[in-house]
Amino acid sequence: MLDINKIRLDFPILKQKVYGKPLVYFDNGATTQKPQCVIDAIVKYYTEENSNIHRGVHFLSQTATVAHENARESVREFINAAHAHEIIFTRGTTESINLVASSFGKKFIQKGDEVLISAMEHHSNIVPWQLICEEKEAVLKVIPFHKNGELDIAAFENLISERTKIIAVTHVSNALGTINPVKEIIKTAHAKDIPVLIDGAQGIAHTSVDVQDLDCDFYCFSAHKLYAPMGIGVLYGKEKWLNAMPPYQGGGEMIQTVTFEKTTYNELPFKFEAGTPSVGDVLGLAAALEYIISIGMDNIAAYENDLLEYASSELLKIEGIQIIGTAKHKAAVLSFLIDNIHPYDAGTIIDRFGVAVRTGHHCAQPVMDILGIPGTIRASFAFYNTKEEIDVLISAVKKVKEMFA
Ligand SMILES: Cc1ncc(COP(=O)(O)O)c(C=O)c1O
Repeated sequence: MLDINKIRLDFPILKQKVYGKPLVYFDNGATTQKPQCVIDAIVKYYTEENSNIHRGVHFLSQTATVAHENARESVREFINAAHAHEIIFTRGTTESINLVASSFGKKFIQKGDEVLISAMEHHSNIVPWQLICEEKEAVLKVIPFHKNGELDIAAFENLISERTKIIAVTHVSNALGTINPVKEIIKTAHAKDIPVLIDGAQGIAHTSVDVQDLDCDFYCFSAHKLYAPMGIGVLYGKEKWLNAMPPYQGGGEMIQTVTFEKTTYNELPFKFEAGTPSVGDVLGLAAALEYIISIGMDNIAAYENDLLEYASSELLKIEGIQIIGTAKHKAAVLSFLIDNIHPYDAGTIIDRFGVAVRTGHHCAQPVMDILGIPGTIRASFAFYNTKEEIDVLISAVKKVKEMFA
């Protein structure tokens, strides 16, 4: 059992009132709040340790370098990667996917080849593939999903062809909450020697991730959705792919030798980390991982599932509520509509109750187009949320109904 009252004390922002009411933060799918230990790690870095890394002989530089590389090891351990050099620090999921689409695409995608994504992807896992497909005159194919938000696995199997060069799917849908059967998808793809990229932006905060068990070729996530700072993220890539792929950006750190005639590239992971890294944020991420481990990912998943079930059943007691995304396996992301009320109007009223929900297409416009809706109201939960907070949301939803009656 988690001691939620104690956990909440770790997050200073949760003490806040908005419009004179206690803040109820249900926008965790967009970004999570940060525990004091993460804030402290960043302050400590800039107060005591700030220095550029990897290229200094002085004390501070060496200390910061060791801390930065220890953080890489923490990430490796957290997702059970085989090697620390398979962990590339990026600015976030978006940059991680762009890196793979661009670099893998440059090397391995040719005219007429196919890239397979799903219809429930965030724009970050659509547009980078469109860009490379356009450049290479390749074809982007899309796995459909059923009405309840589950991927159409039969269609997926039919869409794989001899020209499929890579498959990129989300672990957890940010719009529907669906947890996709990524392990099975990877198994099917690997039977045909096709690598798979998993967009873990939502998955990483709600489920235990073991990249060796999944056997994914790439796994991407943003630190800020995992109780860590914005501006930092991770690309996990299997060594064999990362070694085979050309650099994504050129600059300092990623080189071994530079002459005007020829430049040779650094080894992994530095080959993909051009320029000065965001050391303070990396240390913040390491602090967040330590914090999450102390609570336990399985405890987090079980508690959040409880919140999801409670919120879903309480919402459905209200007439006119439609839950968007009713897959059997869901993470703590709850999209819904209230009668025919526009999500934006509903969200504005809900906000006045101090409740932060997200409204709109959630950067997954194709999902909304397929379902024929303008968007949804999305409550996404974290382990610091409570059933009492869900009750406040329910009161707010009732008020919305009343106002539009
Ligand atoms: C499924 C999914 N993929 C990718 C992203 C993009 O993440 P970021 O903006 O942190 O790069 C998000 C963000 O909401 C997401 O939910």
